[in-house]
Amino acid sequence: MKIAVREAPITSTEIIEAKKANPGFGRTFSDRMFMARWNEEQGWHDAEIVPYGPIPLDPAANVLHYAQEVFEGMKAYSWEDGRVALFRPEMNGERFNNSAKRLCMPTVDPEFFMDAVTTLVGLEKDWIPADGKGALYIRPTMIGTEAALGVKASTDYLFYVIVGPVGSYFPTGFKPIRIWVTKEYVRAAVGGIGFAKTSGNYAASLLAGKIAAEKGCSQVLYLDAKENKFIEELGGMNVFCRFGKTIATSPLTGSILPGVTRNSIMTLAPEFGLAVEERNISIGEIKERAADGSLSEVFAVGTAAVVTAIGSLLYEDEEITIGDGGIGDVSQQLYDRLTGIQYGRLADAHKWVRFVG
Ligand SMILES: Cc1ncc(COP(=O)(O)O)c(C=O)c1O
Repeated sequence: MKIAVREAPITSTEIIEAKKANPGFGRTFSDRMFMARWNEEQGWHDAEIVPYGPIPLDPAANVLHYAQEVFEGMKAYSWEDGRVALFRPEMNGERFNNSAKRLCMPTVDPEFFMDAVTTLVGLEKDWIPADGKGALYIRPTMIGTEAALGVKASTDYLFYVIVGPVGSYFPTGFKPIRIWVTKEYVRAAVGGIGFAKTSGNYAASLLAGKIAAEKGCSQVLYLDAKENKFIEELGGMNVFCRFGKTIATSPLTGSILPGVTRNSIMTLAPEFGLAVEERNISIGEIKERAADGSLSEVFAVGTAAVVTAIGSLLYEDEEITIGDGGIGDVSQQLYDRLTGIQYGRLADAHKWVRFVG
């Protein structure tokens, strides 16, 4: 589909550079955004790039009442040779559609998804921080816009993409984090919408996140909804445990988001002599094996922070320290390898990178 590019006021280079110097995470956005609309008669239509700004929505719009919304989180990286790279963007397109199907929303042709992202990123490439300073965060989103109260799927949808420079996800930077393991709150249950990247899952996690912060923890580790025993994931990242020469992570049972980073780590692990297991890991096993030293690392993975070491877990008011509480070798090696590929410093043996333009 042809994407029309409308005139937009452009921020001066000086201001862009100042904003890129200290972007934080998710607070600064570029000058333009992509938009397209869907209805049954026309399918996707009116694809255009317009000035970034508020979206007029009817107060009865489906998304505001019944949360028909799906989104993605991906990044564009600025390489030293001037090229702009995306990391496995087709996986985000696929997950966007899997989320949309679960939420009873229309899918987006993979080529159209890619065109929307690359056209916008190409136009906004001055907003991408240099290697070492961050990346351009990309947020494709779809919402139900039909103005109608009553629980049913919307007849009309808006697909839009916004982008903005980001630095470190955790204000502490690349330092081990402390995590609260909750028994009281559940993020998602099998049969629900946990595997979809949709706003409801994040709304469900906010209260536990607030309590975690009050306890001095950065995020929450959720247990399975049925037995309240097996670790699932953090509110915004997947989790791995290292036992000797094996790394283990929770299986994709339907309540966990299938992370692009999770999949990449599982592919890279054998290159470091590590076996990979997808299996149930109970919080009891973590406690026991952290104590006897056979669990030496726990780390969280996701697009925003790549790989983050978990130094300790707070569970039932007890502190479980992992290893020496610092950054383990495997966490560091995987972080270096992934960011090396993303920024073009290391060979891309798996052909994961796609260039913009
Ligand atoms: C709940 C949840 N789990 C895991 C992830 C990691 O996914 P990815 O590696 O695709 O960023 C995210 C981040 O998007 C997330 O929100």
